[in-house]
Amino acid sequence: MNILIAQSGGPTCAINASLVGVFKQGLLTEEIDAVFGSINGIEGAVNDEILNLKSIIKTNEDMELLRQTPSTMLGSCRCKLPDYEENPEMYEKILKTFTTHRINIFIYIGGNDSMDTVVKLSSYLKSVGSDIKIIGVPKTIDNDLPVTDHTPGFGSAAKYVAATVQEIIRDSSVYSIPSVTVIEIMGRHAGWLTASTCVLRANGEEAPHLIYLPESSFTPEQFIEDTKKEMAKHKAVVIAVSEGVSLQDAADFQSGAVDNFGHKYLSGVGKYLERLVADKIGCKVRSVELNVMQRCSSHICSKTDIDEAERIGRHALKAALDGFTGKMMCFRRVSDTPYAVTIEMTDACRVANQEKLFPKEWISPEQNQVTDAAIPYFLPLIQGEVNIMMKNGLPVHFQRPLQMR
Ligand code: F6P
Repeated sequence: MNILIAQSGGPTCAINASLVGVFKQGLLTEEIDAVFGSINGIEGAVNDEILNLKSIIKTNEDMELLRQTPSTMLGSCRCKLPDYEENPEMYEKILKTFTTHRINIFIYIGGNDSMDTVVKLSSYLKSVGSDIKIIGVPKTIDNDLPVTDHTPGFGSAAKYVAATVQEIIRDSSVYSIPSVTVIEIMGRHAGWLTASTCVLRANGEEAPHLIYLPESSFTPEQFIEDTKKEMAKHKAVVIAVSEGVSLQDAADFQSGAVDNFGHKYLSGVGKYLERLVADKIGCKVRSVELNVMQRCSSHICSKTDIDEAERIGRHALKAALDGFTGKMMCFRRVSDTPYAVTIEMTDACRVANQEKLFPKEWISPEQNQVTDAAIPYFLPLIQGEVNIMMKNGLPVHFQRPLQMR
């Protein structure tokens, strides 16, 4: 029996830990002969670009290094499978690759779009009488997958974002003159990551003084009013804003380009708001876009996140071996304090192409803050530090095989 693993969608600090989880479980399972990796997500299965992972991950040290390495070791894709009726060719190519390499199980680590692939591929395989099992493993820094309590990758991103915002708070408050700092944080339609900056309150910070999410109603006029009010109370105002905050003028500063799922490439709202403050208030103002650092800064990853990512990968392979297909693994929170989760599974069709938004009841009535009720949800996810292996004063990363660079 052989298995194939692939990684898909936006990178995170924990997606390689899930790969390690599946791989380790594969090594422990007697009936599994080879563990293959598909290059660039499902595209590797379509184009028969797959590697024997045992030839790349050779030692326990390799596995440890991979666990602490951000991004996707196998590469990634934003590839949407067409409907089978429209384009059977792609499915036939995937089945050919599976047959050539005697693949019995395919584990797809990805977000809501990747679960679309899990649903379509498992239905296709059933329809042609194939017994190959397809299981999804969640991942995304956006934390926007339905059913699961949270997603691997989110805790590490939230830890980095909160720690960085705290550093920005220190830096921005040194001068005697009034200032505004706008911090742009990822999250297209769901503001979980931006909202998670509220955890700084647990450590006695007052900032971010304003938090704006895609889920809150937002107008530039109200933003300026809110900012002026905060400036009356604080010398250095720090504002966290989601990249996807709803703005009519967004077309003016975004490229308009979209990926295969029709999602816009977002970026620039921080700069836009910086200019707005300069025009309407005229004080010292700066914007900081955390950009890709928030999903690849593994030097401050959350141990809880990395451990859970590995565990859920192991469970995915067990589920496939138990005969399940078309499912996504998920976390169910049993308690906040002490923190406990169980790993369960759900039909991938309940997650595919769906988004779990930040709860409205955790947004302040003024639409510009997150309430304290959200803090116990976030705090357990950012706990613990990984003992990062260092060399020459820098974290050591697992290097992708030469043929993949
Ligand atoms: O995967 C989620 C995410 O990190 C979003 O928060 C962000 O909007 C998007 O990916 C960016 O994707 P890409 O790197 O493909 O531009």
